[in-house]
Amino acid sequence: MKVRMRARTRWRFARRVSVTDRMHVDDAERMQQAIEAAAAVRADTAPNPWVGCVIVSAAGEVFTGATEPPGGRHAEVVALDAARDAARGATAWVTLEPCAHTGRTGPCADALIDAGVARVVVALEDPDRRVSGGGIERLRAAGVEVAVGTQADTVRAQLAAYLKHRTTGRPWVVLKVGASLDGRTAAPDGSSQWITGGAARADAHRLRAESDAIVVGAGTVRADDPSLTVRNVEGKDPLRVVLGSAPAGSKVLPALEFSGELTDLLDQLGQRGVLQVLVEGGATVLGAFHRAGLVDHYVLYLAPVLFGGDDARPMFAGPGAETIADVWRGAITGLTPLGGDVRVDLAPVGPSAVTGPVPVVRIGDVPPFRDPASGGA
Ligand SMILES: NC(=O)c1ccc[n+]([C@@H]2O[C@H](COP(=O)([O-])OP(=O)(O)OC[C@H]3O[C@@H](n4cnc5c(N)ncnc54)[C@H](OP(=O)(O)O)[C@@H]3O)[C@@H](O)[C@H]2O)c1
Repeated sequence: MKVRMRARTRWRFARRVSVTDRMHVDDAERMQQAIEAAAAVRADTAPNPWVGCVIVSAAGEVFTGATEPPGGRHAEVVALDAARDAARGATAWVTLEPCAHTGRTGPCADALIDAGVARVVVALEDPDRRVSGGGIERLRAAGVEVAVGTQADTVRAQLAAYLKHRTTGRPWVVLKVGASLDGRTAAPDGSSQWITGGAARADAHRLRAESDAIVVGAGTVRADDPSLTVRNVEGKDPLRVVLGSAPAGSKVLPALEFSGELTDLLDQLGQRGVLQVLVEGGATVLGAFHRAGLVDHYVLYLAPVLFGGDDARPMFAGPGAETIADVWRGAITGLTPLGGDVRVDLAPVGPSAVTGPVPVVRIGDVPPFRDPASGGA
């Protein structure tokens, strides 16, 4: 008898746990769908954040939305417009706190309340001072059940550029370089040819499309005369920035030509609404950004090529660590084969004020590429 009672108690406990677990699993799965919806619009929304929303009606129908280009609807409104009456009593999963202010569009918190959504699951609070908890408060005050924090680390990584901009006023800095496996980036005689193959170059163009500005040094403009546009993938051209000045007639012009402190450049770009800046080189500029500790994320495209000596251009020009105790150490956060090359994603070690304890991860698959026609960068 005693044994049977104990067994029943255990069963009841197990059932209660599994219902709660199921809810968390559902929340995580639905939030993952919202994260994927956001990833699909990563290059289209700046200076607004790329947000995804999934609404599931009481009857189980699923409606998905993602942020439209600036001036367009926010993710919640796209999903609500698709759901219409089915939103009454529904649950919404949204990667970033619904806004509480009227900008170019009305407050999303009000849209969710007016549509009769019963429960809202939010991954992250929005640090933008016009929101920062206000959307969640407004939903709760209207009697909507709100849960915060589902998949927060993944969304923090996905929105790192937006979060850094809104919390520091500066853009997220991505340093990109194409190199041989022995770490060389250009031949000593200045002869110029691609080190990496078509797949790596197409991926690099996707990085450009996700960035709002690209920075190169005047040395690269003089050596390669790059146009720095987005090619072989869909996307708008970023603002082109030359450190120093570009000779008249350079393909990169018109560009912002900047001389001075790199921190001042980042402040200026932040004020212009640049959320992510891609620093493309050359070695002098990469060395300066790296040594100043201004890089948030490194993307190295490595080709199975060896220059085989120490006279070719390095990744970083200028004085490096003098002693082994001073070497910069990072964490590899992504390793992606691209044709015959490999992409290494590298982040500074340690918790970041922006991305939290989890370093940046790549979200989404590498899109198909067209083998690009030969030509300059
Ligand atoms: N493999 C790759 O991924 C890759 C990418 C890009 C370039 N590259 C190669 O790199 C080589 C060029 O590299 P590099 O080191 O010679 O030149 P660089 O880094 O492109 O440019 C250095 C120049 O930029 C200007 N500059 C830098 N910081 C500045 C600041 N804070 N304010 C004002 N001006 C600033 C200075 O121009 P002034 O000299 O006019 O004062 C400086 O000499 C080329 O061979 C190119 O093919 C390779």
